Amino acid sequence: MNKCAIILAAGEGKRMKSNLPKVLHKVCGKEMINHVIDTISKAGIGSIDIVIGKNSEQVKKATEDKGVTYSLQCEQLGTGHAVMCAEEFLKGKSGTVAIFVGDGPLITEHMVKELFEFHENGKYKTTVITSFLNEPAKYGRIVRDINNEVKKIVEFKDCTEEERNINEINAGMYCFDIKCLLDNLNKLSNDNAQKEYYLTDVIEIFKKQGYKIGAFNVPFDIVTAVNSRNELANAEQIMRNRINNKHMENGVTIIDPGSTYIDSEVVIGKDTIIYPGNVLQGNTIIKDNCVLYPNSRIKDSIIEYGVIIQNSVILDSYIGENTTVGPFAYVRPESNIGANARIGDFVEIKKSTIGDNTKVSHLTYIGDAEVGSGCNFGCGTVVVNYDGKKKHKTIVGNNAFIGCNTNLVSPVEVKDNSYIAAGSTITKEVPEGALAIARAKQVNINNWVEKKGLKKK
Ligand code: UD1
Ligand code: CA
Repeated sequence: MNKCAIILAAGEGKRMKSNLPKVLHKVCGKEMINHVIDTISKAGIGSIDIVIGKNSEQVKKATEDKGVTYSLQCEQLGTGHAVMCAEEFLKGKSGTVAIFVGDGPLITEHMVKELFEFHENGKYKTTVITSFLNEPAKYGRIVRDINNEVKKIVEFKDCTEEERNINEINAGMYCFDIKCLLDNLNKLSNDNAQKEYYLTDVIEIFKKQGYKIGAFNVPFDIVTAVNSRNELANAEQIMRNRINNKHMENGVTIIDPGSTYIDSEVVIGKDTIIYPGNVLQGNTIIKDNCVLYPNSRIKDSIIEYGVIIQNSVILDSYIGENTTVGPFAYVRPESNIGANARIGDFVEIKKSTIGDNTKVSHLTYIGDAEVGSGCNFGCGTVVVNYDGKKKHKTIVGNNAFIGCNTNLVSPVEVKDNSYIAAGSTITKEVPEGALAIARAKQVNINNWVEKKGLKKK
């Protein structure tokens, strides 16, 4: 049967003190709500409904390619009310619905699968995810009866002194039998400390009807919720450790996992070595045997086998096999660098193609250019791609030698096997096999210093 789930995400998240809806804050580069959606999708849940409230348009936009549906909760009257708002989604369905929260991004695929098995094998009408905490803080407490079965959940604000001492907390995630849930949602009242319709009260209602209630206990770091920036940083750290461990298990060397920041979707090949201070973002793919020396930021890029990078920024680009980048290179979006190439220190490449074996070793800017293979760019070359109004294209063929301190004023073409003398400002095509010299001829005025009376005694 097609499994379904509801994600509660309509709360305001006041404690974040943010203009952004809480569930759109990112953990390891991905919005919390998208972590939840992706994880439960991978666990085989095909039908997902999100309860959204204020700022619903922003949440919809951030999740628009996920194939989820939405229910609107106009006023935040509590978690029970939020589920009532998803009644349309549940109507006509039978079997199990799982309920997760948009601010609980640390759930795992394994846990979700086990939760469903536990719930369905145990023939429970509801299963509550619980966790044991030494300091249970403001979480709802799990109250058990004399048979050690779950009797009810009491919210922190409604707890008696004795109930506050309970260490087992409600993670706020559940499985429900859909029919039983729909039959009982209308029995919720808001007669409590927060004047809210608590979803947690459904448990006691079920208990009174003699329904079987399961408690699925999991480690707290799987169900930790994010309510503040502090908890956001904590969630980030937990997820970062998980991601780094996964890569190390796959054969990646991470010199210092505590200072290596890898987004959840990044793919890294084996025997790649990562030094501290690297930030690998988005859909970056790093192939085998690369070395990332300290302090690079690489976003949405493909880095082929054996590439060496140090202290550089690479955005939305492709770097071919065994190429070296940096230190201090800036490869901007839509650049495509070939194999065995060299992009050296203080080199900026923007929206350009650089062929195999081409060396751009130092202090050079290449923008909107197509450069062939086997070229050598002397120190301080500038592609002058912008005339103040428009960007123009430069084309350099194969095996061209561009002398130091050359300006290539675009649009311009430098053909195969040509040379450009150092210090040239090239404005016209350089033909194949030619040497272009485009600078004033040197004139020496003899004894000029002495005649001007400038000679130092
Ligand atoms: C809830 C549980 C508590 C549990 C804790 C775990 C209830 C009554 N309490 O408390 O037992 O220990 O989660 O984190 O359920 N939401 C809506 N609409 C609303 C209210 C909330 O969509 O009207 C969403 C929020 O966006 C959030 C989730 O429900 O994703 C939980 O809401 P929150 O206010 O954080 O509940 P807690 O007070 O933390
Ligand atoms: Ca919460």
